[in-house]
Amino acid sequence: MTARLTARELTLRYGDRVVSARLTLDVPDGAFTAIVGPNACGKSTLLRAFVRLLKPADGQVTLDDRDVTAYPTKALARSLGFLPQDPVAPEDIRVRQLVARGRFPHQSLLSTWSAADEDAVTAAMEAAGVEDLADRPVHQLSGGQRQRTWIAVVLAQDTPYLLLDEPTSFLDITHQYQLLELLGGLRDQGRTVIAVLHDINQACRYADHLVAMKEGRIVAEGAAADIVDAVLLKEVFELPCVVVPDPVTGTPMVVPLPGASS
Ligand SMILES: Nc1ncnc2c1ncn2[C@@H]1O[C@H](COP(=O)(O)OP(=O)(O)OP(=O)(O)O)[C@@H](O)[C@H]1O
Ligand SMILES: [Mg+2]
Repeated sequence: MTARLTARELTLRYGDRVVSARLTLDVPDGAFTAIVGPNACGKSTLLRAFVRLLKPADGQVTLDDRDVTAYPTKALARSLGFLPQDPVAPEDIRVRQLVARGRFPHQSLLSTWSAADEDAVTAAMEAAGVEDLADRPVHQLSGGQRQRTWIAVVLAQDTPYLLLDEPTSFLDITHQYQLLELLGGLRDQGRTVIAVLHDINQACRYADHLVAMKEGRIVAEGAAADIVDAVLLKEVFELPCVVVPDPVTGTPMVVPLPGASS
């Protein structure tokens, strides 16, 4: 396994609240990594540290053996594309305008908007299924339409790494699977995908590498088939369940037991 993106002994905290202490993670290159774990366990905090939005109190994040803090902003943004959990669009912006903002790391003071930028925006909108919404104000969209617009923004950025915080949230089941297939296709082209997913069965199906977190720690990581069982689900989610083979893919499928919430 090669890892060009790594977290080394990270301590992440907000003020006095320590979220993660001495967390180490090698992100397998050219693979689809899914991060799963209960609410508030530190998944978003970790992604924010990877993309330098949160400064570690200790430890470091490196890309190609270089601390991410050493990269100029645009250079880092040409490598790491990030979809936050709750992105906020500028007021009155339209879909195509917002997607075009994904091209910012590819522009310089001297460069003008190019045909390559235009093509990247069009391709990203098609891939995310928002081409018909191009002229709509973003704030008037449905939750799922807005989520797909944000996915298009990240796709337009055209980065080798895609870090996505709950990319399937707000999407109907068909759009969820379309997105996961899209991400799998990008992985097949050599991109590295890191996504926080709440649907463990989707994570088992699509991720090459699963990272299970609890209370800021990585409890287990590896191929879903190697790590997902009822014991792990009990430990991480306190969920009584059985784990059976997914009838379509054979990957682990979690089936909660009755009375799971009591
Ligand atoms: N800006 C912040 N200031 C202070 N505490 C924060 C901040 N953001 C998150 N936290 C706290 O840090 C902890 C981890 O939050 P984080 O958002 O990383 O969780 P998460 O695993 O992404 O959860 P979820 O599944 O609900 O999105 C939580 O206890 C949360 O309340
Ligand atoms: Mg989160």
